[in-house]
Amino acid sequence: MYRLVFTQVLSRFDAEAVHHLTVRLLRLLSVLPVVKRLLYGWLAPRDESLRVQAFGVHFPAPFGLAAGFDKDAGCFEALAALGFGHVEVGTITARAQPGNPRPRLFRLPESRAIINRMGFNNAGAHAAARRLRRSRSLPAVVGVNIGKTKVVPENEAVADYVSSARLLAPLADYLVVNVSSPNTPGLRDLQAVELLRPLLTAVRETAGRTPLLVKIAPDLADEDIDAVADLAADLGLAGIIATNTTISRAGVSSAETGGLSGRPLKSRSLEVLRRLHRRVGGRLAIVSVGGVEDADDVWARLLAGATLVQGYTGMIYGGPLWAWRIHRGLSRRLRRHGHTSIREVIGRSAVGETA
Ligand SMILES: Cc1cc2nc3c(=O)[nH]c(=O)nc-3n(C[C@H](O)[C@H](O)[C@H](O)COP(=O)(O)O)c2cc1C
Repeated sequence: MYRLVFTQVLSRFDAEAVHHLTVRLLRLLSVLPVVKRLLYGWLAPRDESLRVQAFGVHFPAPFGLAAGFDKDAGCFEALAALGFGHVEVGTITARAQPGNPRPRLFRLPESRAIINRMGFNNAGAHAAARRLRRSRSLPAVVGVNIGKTKVVPENEAVADYVSSARLLAPLADYLVVNVSSPNTPGLRDLQAVELLRPLLTAVRETAGRTPLLVKIAPDLADEDIDAVADLAADLGLAGIIATNTTISRAGVSSAETGGLSGRPLKSRSLEVLRRLHRRVGGRLAIVSVGGVEDADDVWARLLAGATLVQGYTGMIYGGPLWAWRIHRGLSRRLRRHGHTSIREVIGRSAVGETA
């Protein structure tokens, strides 16, 4: 049904216009508590065997919505009502900014992919904090992803992240330092360990007891992935989110600049997860994201050592029941393999088992 709506209607309109309309509808849903709770009752994961605990936070299920959809923390409750086990809002920057000129969001349906060069368009940390402070009617798990304000020079980046962290960490179930989006000039340079160490150290101090994670790019060389993983473990971070979008264009025909997400990212994202699991699995939570399309993909990530899994592009092609379908598929797989908890699956293929 959604496939028909997508091919016959949605795909004929500008991708960003459809996104804004969707966010508006979800916001409307957010102010209709009865409908929201009804949806939550139908679609939110209730199977206790799907529950995961990571860095001290209880997640009702392992699959969540990746950063970039709810940039301004305006509709996370409605998204939780659609069945996501957590919602990562942002990227939020200390100051409000418009992002890059349009068009900046492109669908590649034949590749089940998206290219975006949004450039952290958002209303800023103060506006997001106001929204996150509002009373809630659902028990949504909310991660807050922060990034650098574009006009802030690199030598002031730490203070910029710290000012967002000060406002937002107390309102977040976990906080993410995003140093991996390709659409803010110079941002990914912050992944170099000599720049990343002081940044993460300062944000961690500011975040206090809120678990801190760092989100990395798939385009890092393998030895740089190891270096960031070692640093994160050394600093006692809660985890690593891997990966953001890629600047590679392997397997797609579009030459638009920006970050590529969706199916073409799948194999690299899985490769990075395996590498991280070998290096720091057991010491840090690994949140795997990139090219996840269905329950099979989530299952494969869990087997490879992911504690949690996220997705974004799959929802554009999969529709509003996407997260619900994935969790239903995970419950079925658990029963089929005779497991009583999803925790029994995590990391199994890394030790040579197939679940
Ligand atoms: C339109 C769009 C906007 C995004 N914006 C952000 C963002 O603001 N911050 C961030 O950390 N990741 C952002 N991402 C990256 C996603 O969170 C995710 O890491 C990436 O898309 C790979 O997952 P996927 O293949 O399931 O989409 C964005 C992705 C898309 C498609």
